[in-house]
Amino acid sequence: MKILAIDTSCDETSVAVSLDDKLQANIISSQVEFHKEWGGVVPIIAKRNHNEKIEFVIEKALKQARYNIEDIDVFAVTYGPGLAVALEVGVNKAKQLASKFKRPLVAVDHMAGHIYANFTKNRNGKYYSGIRKIASNKTSEKDNSIFPLLALLISGGHTEIIYMSKHLDFHKVGKTLDDSLGEAYDKIANMLGWGYPGGPIIEQYAKKGDRDKYDFPVPMKNSKDLNFSYSGLKTAVLYQIKEIGKKTKSKYAQEGKLHKSEPANGDPYSPTLSKKPIYKLTKEESLNVAASFEKAATEELKVKLKQAVDQYPVNKVLLGGGVVNNLYIRKELRRMLRRRNIRMHHPRNRKLLSDNAGMITTTAYYMAKEKQFCNIEDLDRKPRLSL
Ligand code: KG4
Ligand code: ZN
Repeated sequence: MKILAIDTSCDETSVAVSLDDKLQANIISSQVEFHKEWGGVVPIIAKRNHNEKIEFVIEKALKQARYNIEDIDVFAVTYGPGLAVALEVGVNKAKQLASKFKRPLVAVDHMAGHIYANFTKNRNGKYYSGIRKIASNKTSEKDNSIFPLLALLISGGHTEIIYMSKHLDFHKVGKTLDDSLGEAYDKIANMLGWGYPGGPIIEQYAKKGDRDKYDFPVPMKNSKDLNFSYSGLKTAVLYQIKEIGKKTKSKYAQEGKLHKSEPANGDPYSPTLSKKPIYKLTKEESLNVAASFEKAATEELKVKLKQAVDQYPVNKVLLGGGVVNNLYIRKELRRMLRRRNIRMHHPRNRKLLSDNAGMITTTAYYMAKEKQFCNIEDLDRKPRLSL
């Protein structure tokens, strides 16, 4: 089965082509440069960019896969969750293609995609996540022994834990009550004047800071459920920044003014315009705040995942979402799970971690095998779709 999938859920225009679950092309055109100066994604800019690029990205994916559009057996598209005006571009294009070429259309949940990135294989039939070392022709039978499993999804819009007893069977057992983890990274980077997206920047700088310098509260540590929360931690970080600023009598940076937080020499990131009023910290203070925040945020993930594997006995945990790029988080989680004899997997391919359509082709492959097609005419984007 040859599948072409489109994902325009946020600020990446992505198109992928697969042969069954074997990825042939996964093209991602990022708009990050266009949104950077605003400190976040601007919907109207995202929409315009998707519209401008979608045709070109489709052509590029087909070319790389060496398929003609007529060869495609199934079309697929992310219909939520995400930005309404951005999703719309992909959904309309996919509907148009499926109608024109009279092929079935699969409507995919973006978060299911982040889980199924772990089931994606390369051209040679090897799983990128190493979830199974040996590829088999009887994939579906063998894959079933992978279950039950837990998936931890940590992205810019979501922080959730999903339990799966078999393919396409999603039970949400924990979720954030306010901000997502990626959002917390982005907001704190903004407070420190480090620009967007904040995750990779904080990770870089946190490595150079003292993780024990500030004792930030670990959110939800004592709650029995598997939910997350990041707004309290975010506020604690903000108060700490103010506190340091007061002590050192540094000036309150004016709203909208460039906040020079003195990035370490030679670092690839430069401070951008910050929209928040912030104190001016020294480089060392900023690095310590970032490091201590990362420690507390990671501790929450560890506490909740530990509770989850105690409640739901599994031998595998899959990770998905942009925040999985973070090596410190991965190392800490792996160590905790290893002690409990649980294997942790994530796609060992950067493209499959952040937003991409490759994970959508894989989800569509499993859905198409079950004939889970949508009614082309009725399909509409669902910005608040939830697993
Ligand atoms: O999954 P993703 O690409 O998009 C959504 O579906 O939201 O996730 C993007 C998020 C952003 O908030 C970004 O700051 C965060 O992932 N992120 C990271 C890292 N790389 C990306 N967070 C922490 N450490 C990283 N290295
Ligand atoms: Zn995502």
